[in-house]
Amino acid sequence: MSAALAPRSDFPLLASNPGLHYLDSAATSQKPRVVLDALRDFYETANANPHRGAYALSALATERYHDARHTIARFVGLADSDCLIFTRGTTESMNFVASAWGPSNVQAGDEIIITALEHHANFVPWQQLALATGATLRIVELTDRQTIDLDHLRDLLSPRTRVVALTHVSNAVGAITPLAEAVRLIRSRSAAIIVVDGAQAVPHLPVHFDTLDVDFYAFSGHKLLGPMGIGCLIGRRALLESMSPYQFGGDMIEWVHDTHSTWNVIPHKFEAGTPNAADAVALAAAVRYLESLGMDNVRAHELALLELADARVRELPGVTVYGPPPAERSGVVSFSLADVHPHDLATILDQHGVCVRAGHHCAQPLMRRLGVSATARASFYVYSDASDVEALVHALQAAQALFATADSPT
Ligand code: ALA
Repeated sequence: MSAALAPRSDFPLLASNPGLHYLDSAATSQKPRVVLDALRDFYETANANPHRGAYALSALATERYHDARHTIARFVGLADSDCLIFTRGTTESMNFVASAWGPSNVQAGDEIIITALEHHANFVPWQQLALATGATLRIVELTDRQTIDLDHLRDLLSPRTRVVALTHVSNAVGAITPLAEAVRLIRSRSAAIIVVDGAQAVPHLPVHFDTLDVDFYAFSGHKLLGPMGIGCLIGRRALLESMSPYQFGGDMIEWVHDTHSTWNVIPHKFEAGTPNAADAVALAAAVRYLESLGMDNVRAHELALLELADARVRELPGVTVYGPPPAERSGVVSFSLADVHPHDLATILDQHGVCVRAGHHCAQPLMRRLGVSATARASFYVYSDASDVEALVHALQAAQALFATADSPT
C-alpha cells in the first residue's frame, strides 16, 4: 500500500474532509497549514508596503519579501535571485515574455516554434505575437505517445527561428519533455531563445534552472502548495536587463522626468505596483515544506502512485489512457471511458467523493490531435495515497455499471 508522503493532517481542507479523494492537484494543490499560517503571520506581524517606508515595519515587510525571493530561487536552483520576477503565475509570465521581449526581437520572416502539447498559456501568446509581427508560427507535432516529437523539432529549427516555447511537463497528459535533449538540439541548430513552461514540473520534479541552459522558465505557486495569484518568471540576467518594462508604475522607476523616464534595476523593473509580498512569503513557506519532504522523494512517491493507478485504470474495460508510460509521465492519468462524456464521468466520480478534472484542460490543440473533445484527468500529489487510487477505481466501476444500465434495452 502506497502511503501518503505528507500527512493529510498537515492540510486543513483534507483533514476536515476525510472522505474526500482530491485527485485534481494538476489544477491546483491543497495548502498545508504552514502556508496558511505564513500568510496570516505576514499580515499579523509584518504588514506594510515593501520598499516604500522609512520605518521599521516597512523594512520588515521588505526583508520578508526579499527572503521569499531567495528561498524560492534556491529551491529551483537559481543562484542569482535578482533574475526571479514575481508574477501572478505562469500565464502572466508567458504573456510577459511574449509581449515584453517579443515585438522588439521578432519580425516578419522570423519563425516561432511551439508544440502541440502546450497549455493555451504557452500557445496563444506566441500565436498572437506571430500574427502581430508577421512571423511564421511552427508547431512541433507529437509522437503517438503524446510526447514532443524531437525529430520534427529538428526539422523545424532553422537560422530564422527566434523563439522555441515548450512545456517541461504536459498539464493534460503528464508527458515529461526530455528537456536537456531538446535544449541541445535547439542550441545546435538555431540562435533562438528557449522559453519553458514549468508549471507542472516545479511542483513534482527536482528542477535546477542554472543547469537547464534555457532563457526563460515560468511556474505558478498554487500548484506547489502555495497560494493562488503568485508565480515566478526566471530569466537570464542579460535578457532581462535588455528588455523594456512590461508595466509602468510605482517601484519600477529610477527617475521620472517630464518627457521620459528611466527604470529601476531587475527584478524591480518588472514588478510595478505594490508587490504581492504576503503570497510570496507564503509560497516560500510552501517551498520549505517541499524541501523538507525532498523533491526526489516527491517524484518517487508520485511515480509509485502513478504506476499503481495506471495499471488499475487500464484494467477497466473501455478505458483509454493517454500519454507515455509512467516513467516518462508526472503523476497524471488522463483517460476516457468508452463513449461516456468526461464531464458526465467526473460528475459521477464526484458523487463518490473523487475529484478529477474533465475537459480540454486548456489544451485544445492537443485534444484535436487525440481526436477527442475532452478527457478526464486524475492527478496526484504529496498527500495522495493508494486509497485515493482505489476510490478512483471503485467510482469508475460504479460509473461503468450505471452507464451499462442506462444503455441496456428495456
Ligand atoms: N492549468 C491547470 C490545469 O491543467 C488549471 O488544470
